[in-house]
Amino acid sequence: MFVHKERLEYVLRPEDYASPDVLRREIETLFLGAWHPVALTGDLAADGDFITLDLVGRPLLLRRHAGAIHAYLNVCSHRHCMLTEAPRGNAPRLACQYHGWEYKPDGRIDKVPDGGCFKPFDRENAALATFPVATCGELVFVRLSAEGTDLRGWLGDWYDRVAAAFAPPYRCNWRYAADFACNWKIPVENTVETYHLPLVHPTTLGGFGLIPEEAQKHWLEDRFTTLVFDLGRDSEPVRKQRQVVGWLGGGTTSDQYVHHHVFPNLVFTTSDLFNYCQVYLPTGPTTSRTLAWMFSLDGTKRNPFARVIAGMVARHGVKANAAIQREDSSVFAAQQKGIAATPFRGCIGTREERIWCFHDYLRRACGAPQGGPGAGA
Ligand code: FES
Ligand SMILES: [Fe+2]
Repeated sequence: MFVHKERLEYVLRPEDYASPDVLRREIETLFLGAWHPVALTGDLAADGDFITLDLVGRPLLLRRHAGAIHAYLNVCSHRHCMLTEAPRGNAPRLACQYHGWEYKPDGRIDKVPDGGCFKPFDRENAALATFPVATCGELVFVRLSAEGTDLRGWLGDWYDRVAAAFAPPYRCNWRYAADFACNWKIPVENTVETYHLPLVHPTTLGGFGLIPEEAQKHWLEDRFTTLVFDLGRDSEPVRKQRQVVGWLGGGTTSDQYVHHHVFPNLVFTTSDLFNYCQVYLPTGPTTSRTLAWMFSLDGTKRNPFARVIAGMVARHGVKANAAIQREDSSVFAAQQKGIAATPFRGCIGTREERIWCFHDYLRRACGAPQGGPGAGA
């Protein structure tokens, strides 16, 4: 059931989807202190393994050393070159590609070729900036500020659930990255409402029309919203799903689809066969990027029949989710363009109330500019 019984105010103004100043404030207020999933532990399996990526405008390098994963700003303290631009690899030393300055795992300077040229050495300005790293299940998270809540506190009650959903007997069978020609909030709003299913996902998710209100429950909290959709214990799809879980040796079944939004930009969906982690990141005021990982049930049984079924489950998940992501992203640029020209304030229905909670969180966190003139029901 929905919590609200009447339509809700549209909190954000059109400029909140395009203004460089608003984005700057969002990055400072929302993104630097948040935990962002950026990789899997398997991407950094051996000592020396590294990956590079851009996270909210910061070039990062993640590298495993002595079993622990470290995150650095991928900028050398000598003359500011990126240490490496390779997307991934294995490097026995943490060294810069340009003149070979080498750093210790904690980021402090280690070796400087022809060090005598730099006397007296400015040690305070000769280190790599570092960032906190934490794992939950096989997901690797980075936080961009030194101070902040730890990952367990950030995920709250969902920490243990995420740890179980993104680790055996589930296994990553698909990862996805895409760039969008829209502000980062547009795909976030899309993912937290089911109102668009009949038109945007006619064959993949919308075949049954709108999900009846009585089949779903919304949980609205200060830092999270959650949708719980009961699939119906006696329905044919659930009966089949239970059979598959039994074949694979998957443990208990919930017969639920759960979609959980951790403000501002992190989404988990869980069900008995598939779990997804997806994050939405700004790359500019009107551009964004998503990263996602799909874990499907691999099970505990190793017999040939179970292996074939696990492969079929994974392939089905990849096919369906590649299509769903494509379908969702088909409307993002159109919405961005419309926002730039709208004479209206917009409106939010009760079915879309999770969007209102997200907007309200933005207003609370970022202050006055959100919810300015033109807002209000
Ligand atoms: S810029 Fe890195 S060693 Fe010179
Ligand atoms: Fe969708």
